Amino acid sequence: SLAGVDLLAEIDRLRKERNAVILAHYYQKPEIQDLADFVGDSLDLSRKAADTDADVIAFCGVRFMAETAKVLSPEKIVVLPDMDAGCSLEDSCPPDQFAAFRAQHPDHIALTYINCSVEVKALSDIIVTSSSAEKILSQIPHDQKIIFGPDKHLGGYINRKMGRDMLLWPGVCIVHEAFSETELLKLKAQHPDAPVAAHPECPPHVIDHADYVGSTSGILAFAETFPGDTLIVATEPHIIHQMEKAVPHKRFIGAPGADGNCNCNICPYMALNTIEKLYVALRDLEPRIEIEEGMRLKAKTSLDRMLSMAS
Ligand code: 13P
Ligand code: SF4
Repeated sequence: SLAGVDLLAEIDRLRKERNAVILAHYYQKPEIQDLADFVGDSLDLSRKAADTDADVIAFCGVRFMAETAKVLSPEKIVVLPDMDAGCSLEDSCPPDQFAAFRAQHPDHIALTYINCSVEVKALSDIIVTSSSAEKILSQIPHDQKIIFGPDKHLGGYINRKMGRDMLLWPGVCIVHEAFSETELLKLKAQHPDAPVAAHPECPPHVIDHADYVGSTSGILAFAETFPGDTLIVATEPHIIHQMEKAVPHKRFIGAPGADGNCNCNICPYMALNTIEKLYVALRDLEPRIEIEEGMRLKAKTSLDRMLSMAS
């Protein structure tokens, strides 16, 4: 039992003893964000994982993020506090079906969102994150045919913004899919001067009302600079913790779901990680990410293209 264990002190002791770095995504619980060595978006976290000289990476995020860390830093032990921390986008895109889709479109390259399994990364040509997708796509000629998966909303947003016609895999993020346009319009009516910042995983009926669209780090930067005193935030609400720390005098309101509040937009996968499970992961060095070497090298090729094209 963990009763009587000072978890925060033990996590600190273990991270030194194991030479571990704790990486956390902005969608993690505030108490995890606050003890992490580094908090960031998917691209920042991949770069940190590739660069760190720690022996252990404790990844407080979801499985595809921890897998990416292992692909880029194979000599390190990578632990994920809860191995069930998946992602609806990953679930929407089984590798065998993705391979069949590619086979049906042999003249297309596969530009793939990082929110997918290591197997799907291995079947892809170039990985992108929401913060790097536009920069990477702008380096690919307009006459190149492209498959984009698994997020149809991110792919559709980029298609519209950049005048492209990438073929889209029909996956969605269940968190961003849950925002309600009706409730958002009601909230906007109550705060007529408040801009809306939205993640590109949102469906078009939410994006259409956004004043700023970008990755979590982009939304955070917008929150630190927008003129005005109130911001409506259409992404997973745990990011509001960083906004309140950075700009304590401003007000941040999570965009609502159909029930009128933002609690239904908490990512259930991200929420599986807890301080208790992080402590156990650092103590036992389990659960650990392991990837077969041939698979890792194929996934590394598409991830390395992302890192070089995004820089
Ligand atoms: P970014 O932090 O890269 O914007 O990704 C958002 C997300 O949904 C991660 O699961
Ligand atoms: Fe996946 Fe959406 Fe959760 Fe991110 S927020 S991990 S995209 S389900």
